[in-house]
Amino acid sequence: MNDAFLRACKGYKVRPVPIWLMRQAGRYLPEYQQVRGEVDFLTLCKTPELAAKVTLQPVDILGVDAAILFSDILIPAEAMGLELNFVEGQGPILSPTIRDKEGVNSLKDIEPKKDVPFVLDTIKILREELKDKVPLIGFSGAPFTLATYMIEGGSTKSFFHTKRFMYEKPDVFKELMNKLCKATLSYLSAQIEAGVQAVQMFDTWAGILHQDEYQSFVLPFVQRIFDYLKSCGVPRIYFALDSYHLLDIISQIDCEVFAIDWRINLDKAVEVLGEDTVLQGNLDPCALFLEDSKLEKKVKNILIAGNKAKSHIFNLGHGVLPNIPAERVKFLVDLVHKISMDL
Ligand code: CP3
Repeated sequence: MNDAFLRACKGYKVRPVPIWLMRQAGRYLPEYQQVRGEVDFLTLCKTPELAAKVTLQPVDILGVDAAILFSDILIPAEAMGLELNFVEGQGPILSPTIRDKEGVNSLKDIEPKKDVPFVLDTIKILREELKDKVPLIGFSGAPFTLATYMIEGGSTKSFFHTKRFMYEKPDVFKELMNKLCKATLSYLSAQIEAGVQAVQMFDTWAGILHQDEYQSFVLPFVQRIFDYLKSCGVPRIYFALDSYHLLDIISQIDCEVFAIDWRINLDKAVEVLGEDTVLQGNLDPCALFLEDSKLEKKVKNILIAGNKAKSHIFNLGHGVLPNIPAERVKFLVDLVHKISMDL
């Protein structure tokens, strides 16, 4: 098996530098579109043979060094009792919205084997299929990011209801975080038990918070999850978008890998997090539209900066955009493998 990704997670400087991409399975791939033409997104997530099939597509087509389970961070929200729909052009819709103590109390604990058996079955199929290929990454949303979707009822730009809830009813808000922390813990533990070889927690919206709110409403819950998972022995990756202002607080989290978005140079992240840190990232997903020579220069700069960390896993700073030509993504994977051999 190609274990470059796992060795890099452990802090070994690996050549070529391993690369995988957030949202590497998705609409930019014609092969994914073909599967999606037959079933809706949630059915795809809940049909293990199909979810496994689209998980493998980027591994076979692009030659990335890790697979990421095909699912969505909102699957556990449904298991906790909310109704989940994906509306074309609108993204996810969750109902009812959770905005008070009653709402929080109505949320159920999850029992992964009973509530999300399809996720665990997908993992089992994938471990078998990936035996001679690459490691499998499992994932979840982080409690705060999940909370934003539950409180807003879907995607938002202002996070008005989330912040209002947090400021008006801080104790109830923490109860919600506690419940989501518990659900995330059992969800990730079950994925590890089923066979994932690393886990990434997506805290996509943590960056909307001031440092003080991050410190009291987010950090303790993320820490609790990662502390608990430490004994499972698989690498733990934390990703928070737009979070340079939080990085010194984030550095207190006990995890193997910090994923960084495109807004800062990786050497800045090394300055804050320390040279003993493993970094993942951090090309702007839009940079794939650059012409070859300019993209090459950007990739090289990222690899040079990443080389200052203990080790580096190449990734985008956020997910692959749906309108990027698949050949461009393949070009990037080959470029990272080629350039990093000479560093
Ligand atoms: O990375 C991968 O390839 C694994 C699969 C994966 C998906 N979503 C598939 C998906 C992962 C890891 C996610 C995480 C996720 N989902 C996050 C955190 C990371 C991030 O992007 O910030 C969030 C916030 C979500 C919630 C979500 N799911 C939204 C807001 C949307 C709608 C936006 C969109 O791109 O359509 C989704 C849908 C979704 N999740 C798709 C895929 C492939 C598109 C569904 C389709 O129409 O086929």
